[in-house]
Amino acid sequence: MTRLSRRIFVLGGLVTAGVAVTPRQGARAAVPYPFKLGVASGDPAPDSVVLWTRLAPSPLNADGQGGMANADVTVEWQVSTTDRFTSLVASGSVVARYADAHSVHAIAGGLAADSDYYYRFRAQGQISPVGRTRTAPAPSSFGRDLVMAFASCAHYEAGYYTAYRRMAEDNPGLILHLGDYIYEGGVGTSTVRQHVGAEIVTLADYRRRYALYKSDPDLQAAHAAAPWLVVPDDHEVENNYANMVRNDSSPTLTAAQWTARRTAAYRAYYENMPLRPASAASGNSIPLYRRVRWGQLATFHMLDTRQFRDDQACGDGWKVCADADLASRSLTGATQEAWLLDGLAQRYGTWDILGQQVFFAQQLDANGAASMDAWDGYRASRSRIQTGWQQRGVRNPLVLTGDVHRSWANDLKADYANPSSATIGTELVCTSISSTGNGSGSTTVPNAAANPHLKFYSDRRGYVRTTISRSQVRADFRAVNTVTEHGAAASTVRSFVILDGQPGLQAG
Ligand SMILES: [Fe+2]
Repeated sequence: MTRLSRRIFVLGGLVTAGVAVTPRQGARAAVPYPFKLGVASGDPAPDSVVLWTRLAPSPLNADGQGGMANADVTVEWQVSTTDRFTSLVASGSVVARYADAHSVHAIAGGLAADSDYYYRFRAQGQISPVGRTRTAPAPSSFGRDLVMAFASCAHYEAGYYTAYRRMAEDNPGLILHLGDYIYEGGVGTSTVRQHVGAEIVTLADYRRRYALYKSDPDLQAAHAAAPWLVVPDDHEVENNYANMVRNDSSPTLTAAQWTARRTAAYRAYYENMPLRPASAASGNSIPLYRRVRWGQLATFHMLDTRQFRDDQACGDGWKVCADADLASRSLTGATQEAWLLDGLAQRYGTWDILGQQVFFAQQLDANGAASMDAWDGYRASRSRIQTGWQQRGVRNPLVLTGDVHRSWANDLKADYANPSSATIGTELVCTSISSTGNGSGSTTVPNAAANPHLKFYSDRRGYVRTTISRSQVRADFRAVNTVTEHGAAASTVRSFVILDGQPGLQAG
């Protein structure tokens, strides 16, 4: 380490949130810059947050180790109330292990509730970019109104991450990512940009794929802007897998090889996400469903709808399928379902927000078929949760969804077959960041006659920006017109308001 970088780290440097510090090239500047994957934070509590980085001076090396030597490295971290780090409120050091691909998950504790902070790392004489983060309000407090953005589905080859950049520019206090953060396929036919390497199967493959995605400056800006709450969907492992059942047989894997692949995928997910150590993978499983309380204002119930689900009924795709109604079928597994209903019964905050992956409301096509991969393929499972929150007097259930690469806004009905039945909740579905490319721009709700509770649809890439207050949630559906060119502006396609104590969408 040069003396100057040490002094900058200890006394503060001229840096601003989300802007990379130029690596100091001193007389002994033999060490390449190790923070090329950026920084992140996540899972805020009233007094702590987890800080993440991963050392990778050569991110795309095929061994997945990012150009790091086979040695463990000490990484220091700092938290300050200013982006100049003139005074520190917390600091510490952790060991980034070669065995963990030099990923770091540091708990910054002793923080004040409902407060904004800046953080950064130092390792190998180099200082990381600066990230901005925030703590949750105390359990007894509403705290400030919360701007929360959520997103999903960022296929690297399908387009640029302009929507991540625009999300960061909104200065949200919290970001939810609902899955398909990476895609597992090999090099496709995109003329925008391409994956590196074949379909990912091994731990080295998954690590390198995360490194490719995380090298993107727009994604790094979104991580540096706010703490994230993340849950994976299918593509973090393999398309449309259901617990231990694969969707297809490509590439060909033995049962043991599939187990090893899932193990590698879960391990790499933890290594590359700002998750608390309690969410670390253990062999072929990863404990991801969890609750993050936001004082009296909101509770985020983050669900895992892949790891424990029954196989898709009647096979995958859109089907008319009697088995989809079987009471024995579950999308969450019995343990997670009981955990969710118990958490909803606590009524911790005004808004009970379910951060989850697949389309929740009923959606039928003109022939009465529905997506077997979504909650429509697990109707009794959905019914138990809806009935469960009604029985528990949950005042404001709000379901957030990704997966389908289109924006939707839906009223949730006590009986989907009866349009005049009670509206008992609300669903907001974000479009993709980039997956499936620019989109048509259509805002015509497909099969509207069969689904009168589906109120809004848009086929553009983007994200949803919510503003959560005691009296209402405002939702702005944000979109960019192109992801195949850099630099598109974001605009609001439609806004809705959800009022406290009155489930369902109002014009915003
Ligand atoms: Fe997706």
